[in-house]
Amino acid sequence: MATNTNRQILLKSRPDGPPSLDNFELVEKPVRTPGEGEVLMRTLYLSLDPYMRGRMSAAKSYAKPAAVGEPMVGATVGEIVQSRNPKFAVGDIVLGYGGWQQYALSSGGGLRKLDPAAAPVSTALGVLGMPGMTAYVGLTEIGQPKSGETVVVAAASGAVGSVVGQLAKIKGARAIGIAGGYDKCRFVVDELGFDACVDHREPHLTRRLEAACPNGIDVYFENVGGAVQQAVWPLLNDFARVPVCGLIAQYSATSPMPGPDMFSVLRKRLLLRGFIVSDFAAKQGDFLHDVGEWVRTGRIKYREDVVEGLEQAPAAFLGLLEGKNFGKLLVRVGK
Ligand SMILES: NC(=O)c1ccc[n+]([C@@H]2O[C@H](COP(=O)([O-])OP(=O)(O)OC[C@H]3O[C@@H](n4cnc5c(N)ncnc54)[C@H](OP(=O)(O)O)[C@@H]3O)[C@@H](O)[C@H]2O)c1
Repeated sequence: MATNTNRQILLKSRPDGPPSLDNFELVEKPVRTPGEGEVLMRTLYLSLDPYMRGRMSAAKSYAKPAAVGEPMVGATVGEIVQSRNPKFAVGDIVLGYGGWQQYALSSGGGLRKLDPAAAPVSTALGVLGMPGMTAYVGLTEIGQPKSGETVVVAAASGAVGSVVGQLAKIKGARAIGIAGGYDKCRFVVDELGFDACVDHREPHLTRRLEAACPNGIDVYFENVGGAVQQAVWPLLNDFARVPVCGLIAQYSATSPMPGPDMFSVLRKRLLLRGFIVSDFAAKQGDFLHDVGEWVRTGRIKYREDVVEGLEQAPAAFLGLLEGKNFGKLLVRVGK
């Protein structure tokens, strides 16, 4: 029996190259009442993340593509509004994978209850969620910065990059950001406490980066690829580590882009390691303990870019792929 009207944003078609609004469709449908063991969640926040570009394509990846004609996939923070599962009560706030819709049914598997008194619940999608954990495991497990070393990260004002640089500082390293535009660069230095930030939209990136990294680069946390990677590569020191986290500049490319110079990988004995945050699921307790404490005490700061209304999700997501977001991009779906 229908209890509420659900608004959903479906993946209507798969893009070839950069996605557009035509790839999405807003529909309204009745919500089914939960069956035995199920709960109904009302979405409060929907997380918009770069990996969603990959889910829109049918190309082989580490995760299944989103299905055409189904709601786009995505992590959500929601409120339980109906429950036929003894583990969840009406009113519980949960982290789940509800997708781009106002209401989502769940068997309860994979839901995690949140304590609104411990931290704003939106942080479970950002600094204390998947992006924060990506920064934590990528930097500590693969980058392994030592005191006095130089760590460089691009998309430095974003969900992952902002945490990478602040963690590098906590480890005693120099943190150099790369970001798009004057305001983001100022924020990265003045608010987040990085040592410097270089604007990748201005010319002569390598030269300006070299000035910011007089001792070369020991850890390059790879978030973007493309032209930024080309500028960073010559500055890597011997034995530098490159956690390969993301390549957002290349997600919509229709032909292969030039990759890093493999001869320098040999000559400088570089360590490149790709990773998916879920590879380090066993570290979640350490992450929540350490970063949770640093967020509570103000040692790690975070910025959210909150867009109002589910119908704004497609345009906001397209903006993310062009650097229009400033901080962790969230959609407030319900109050
Ligand atoms: N491996 C994993 O498990 C994992 C998990 C989470 C995220 N990631 C990856 O981490 C990276 C950052 O994700 P996030 O969630 O923190 O996103 P975000 O930084 O909050 O937002 C994306 C940012 O990427 C930058 N960007 C977009 N297009 C670019 C281009 N062509 N060249 C240079 N920069 C560009 C923009 O920042 P500027 O305006 O500053 O350039 C944009 O604001 C992404 O590549 C994502 O796929 C990987």
